[in-house]
Amino acid sequence: MALVALRAGGKSLALVPTMGALHAGHIALAEEARRRADRVVATIFVNPLQFGAGEDLDRYPRQEDQDARMLEEAGCDLLWLPQGQDMYPPGFATNVNVKGVSDRWEGEARPGHFDGVATVVAKLLCAVRPDIAIFGEKDFQQLAVIRRMTQDLQLGVEIVGHSTIRDADGLALSSRNAYLSADERRNALALSAALNDAAEQIRAGASVEQSLARAKERLTAAGFSRIDYFALVNAMTLEPLEQAGGPMRLIAAAVIGRTRLIDNIAVE
Ligand code: PAJ
Repeated sequence: MALVALRAGGKSLALVPTMGALHAGHIALAEEARRRADRVVATIFVNPLQFGAGEDLDRYPRQEDQDARMLEEAGCDLLWLPQGQDMYPPGFATNVNVKGVSDRWEGEARPGHFDGVATVVAKLLCAVRPDIAIFGEKDFQQLAVIRRMTQDLQLGVEIVGHSTIRDADGLALSSRNAYLSADERRNALALSAALNDAAEQIRAGASVEQSLARAKERLTAAGFSRIDYFALVNAMTLEPLEQAGGPMRLIAAAVIGRTRLIDNIAVE
């Protein structure tokens, strides 16, 4: 198999799992992988298990030829595009459920989402057996769930988190930004701006409750129709914090038009 050849001579292997529709955020992960390991494997798989009913599985952007070119340029050695049948053949019956860290926030807004993520990532890690795997802080709770899962299952892989890559104006890059109209794109900027401002206020000692309330008002004023959460959490456990202290993260998810965006920022 191709992986055996990649490993020949005791080469170290890094894995970069994605769902495709790649942007500079994904490419930064591939470049980080390139720096940290001798060989880089990327995967593109739009994992049906992690999409809920009525979510965007059917319209998730697909551009695999362009993705493949971008990954090659970034120094990726092997691109694996599993098919649904490869990952979930008839009779597939296993579910990886990570308790605690996956319960709130994305877990609550998207029931079953993290089971789908943990199950597919466990499968990808077992199939590729990389030394390291790289994930973005953009999906901060996902990163925490994957760290917990790989520790609990003793998968023997080092999980590396990479900082969020943003557009020049601050909007976090996301494959889902492609859904935004020009107007929505302009207003979507309020999400990263509100996170930045709230972080600054909390750092300066302002009330957490008031800072979060102001941030939510700002999102509503910018045209976000639903705010799933805008919260200060412990960066390790993802438990909500009413007061500043310890390793902290501000995390948010909100809907503009038909598009649900998530973002987060370190506070300390
Ligand atoms: P996807 O959304 O394609 O993201 C693939 C990886 O890129 C994830 O680790 C994600 O956190 C990272 N990423 C996305 N946007 C980023 C940005 N702006 N800056 C830095 N990193 C960014 O996340 C998934 O796919 C899936 O859940 C997956 C882990 C592949 C399992 O199906």
